Amino acid sequence: MQAERLKHIQEYYFSTKLKEIARLRFEGKPIINLGIGSPDLPPPESVRNTLAQVALQTDAHRYQSYRGVAELRHAISRYYNSYFEVDLDAETEILPLTGSKEGIMHISMAFINKGDEVLLPDPGYMTYRATTLLAGGQPVYYTLSEDNNYLPDLKALAHSDLSKVKLMWINYPHMPTGAVANRDFYKQLLEFAHKHQILVINDNPYSMILNARPLSILSISGAKETALELNSLSKSHNMAGWRIGMLLGKHEYIDTVLKYKSQMDSGMFLGLQKAAIMALNSPPEWFDELNKIYVRRKKIVLKICQALNLKVRSGQTGLFVWAKLPAGQNSQDFTDRLLKEKGVFMAPGFIFGQYSENYIRISLTNDEEILTETLNRII
Ligand SMILES: Cc1ncc(COP(=O)(O)O)c(C=O)c1O
Repeated sequence: MQAERLKHIQEYYFSTKLKEIARLRFEGKPIINLGIGSPDLPPPESVRNTLAQVALQTDAHRYQSYRGVAELRHAISRYYNSYFEVDLDAETEILPLTGSKEGIMHISMAFINKGDEVLLPDPGYMTYRATTLLAGGQPVYYTLSEDNNYLPDLKALAHSDLSKVKLMWINYPHMPTGAVANRDFYKQLLEFAHKHQILVINDNPYSMILNARPLSILSISGAKETALELNSLSKSHNMAGWRIGMLLGKHEYIDTVLKYKSQMDSGMFLGLQKAAIMALNSPPEWFDELNKIYVRRKKIVLKICQALNLKVRSGQTGLFVWAKLPAGQNSQDFTDRLLKEKGVFMAPGFIFGQYSENYIRISLTNDEEILTETLNRII
């Protein structure tokens, strides 16, 4: 019955795993879930109040513009200017999205023709593969190795056949490894992309988490010609369930995505837009306070890693700790055993790509008490 296009798509790993966790909890087992990166902390109080106030208004419930209210686009423009030193025209270069994951699908549908190749990071976020396939494209993986600081080897890529490549996904700060890019790398990447006529999209939702220097690919001069950027309030403002994201870049690219997106949704509820404006206007102290909490949590997670004899590369950013298992261990066996024996779930590396078989990912989205309880169960 199902369509051909779903042939190579499986149910999202976490979707099935969450069902298993729910079943175990239902049976009375107190499972700790350190697998998923869903922020447990609330958004700022002013943001929650704004949503509630707009919801109580009688005149706020119509369909909204496909491009969001101008005030939201201006707030995004100011945010990008102050944290990333990028100038964006609020009228033409910003498209608010109902979540950046949804934006990955919109971009894939808007640019990929049947048979086009799309460069994807391995390890990387699984959604790029699924949306590429759903749009009729062909995923081509580039390897991110620890030896190259989890950056693509552009020289090696340039020696491969790139004639069918149309898009390239990058994601810095990188999930799951926590690696960051720098300006030099972006300059080289943009030259490469320009030369081979590839549109690069940087997926940047972890920019504000445990990352001393937020960086946008669009801050490199000339980047808008050949790059787009996605960002999101899911992690930066603890609003994952609210589904608020943004696409940033050149007018023509934004309009192309809008053609598709405007057939998919009918705008974002005004309350969400007003709340997003409030979130984007948060003072810098918001991030200081948020990151202080993650620093404390990370300390405990590092102790958990030590207790499990896992190796952690220093300097990781973002919402996770990416840890290497002792040689010869397999991530799925390791995480399944941990779930069965200790009631703790961590994400196995294999779901992020074929070279991550001996890694696991631990999320920082549980409080210190839960993390300490995890440590106690393990030692
Ligand atoms: C690399 C990466 N990109 C995008 C997303 C999607 O985030 P959202 O749609 O909540 O903005 C995630 C979420 O986990 C992610 O890890």
